[in-house]
Amino acid sequence: MKKVAANALMELRSPKTFRRILRGGIGKYAVYRIAAPEDLLMISRFYQYHKRPNGRGPMTRLLDDVLSSNERGCALVASVGDRIVGSAILARFPGNEEFFPDWWLFGIAVHILLRGAGIGESIVGIALHQAVLLGAKSVYLSVSVGNKAALGLYEKMGFKEVSTPNFEIMLKGMAKESGHQSKIFCRKIVRV
Ligand SMILES: CC(C)(COP(=O)(O)OP(=O)(O)OC[C@H]1O[C@@H](n2cnc3c(N)ncnc32)[C@H](O)[C@@H]1OP(=O)(O)O)[C@@H](O)C(=O)NCCC(=O)NCCS
Repeated sequence: MKKVAANALMELRSPKTFRRILRGGIGKYAVYRIAAPEDLLMISRFYQYHKRPNGRGPMTRLLDDVLSSNERGCALVASVGDRIVGSAILARFPGNEEFFPDWWLFGIAVHILLRGAGIGESIVGIALHQAVLLGAKSVYLSVSVGNKAALGLYEKMGFKEVSTPNFEIMLKGMAKESGHQSKIFCRKIVRV
């Protein structure tokens, strides 16, 4: 039911003109920052990790890691007032580059009612800026094939579909369980 509502809202925001109006309105109230360790609970709530059956799953651990060590990466958050309304995790996996080369973006998400207002684009933009500062050569992410809004966002931000054979094997395994096919995209960092 929730998925049907989310898809309906995504379709509603399909016309670019509608998104432009949202940007000029609610989009202006969002404030962006790099999350601090004390944001852990609020970000977990935003992602609704606390409601998951496995509680402390791999994403919770990743969030923990990036909030406690700059070496591993960082979490970016967008807030309106004192509420987190968007987030993303920028991370790298030292010692596991065979599966996860260079830097990766995970959990890019915006509150369902605020989508289409430019918040996702700003979060990804800030994440890419952080990746530059952290010395990244490229930033990877995976996205479900039918996720029109996310695909539009990543294409707009200069991500291109790539092949990373080891990670693809893992994705195929996950697709068998979840039924969701995913693609991998990469944004090369150009230094001038
Ligand atoms: C994907 C998501 C993060 C995009 O964030 P957002 O704040 O809604 O997107 P923005 O308003 O910043 O839009 C940026 C670009 O994305 C694309 N886009 C966003 N919504 C779109 C829609 N409904 N249909 C088509 N393209 C869309 C457009 O290219 C847009 O640029 P434009 O408005 O200049 O045309 C958001 O929809 C979301 O949280 N979705 C659910 C979680 C998710 O799927 N995350 C991605 C995991 S890989």
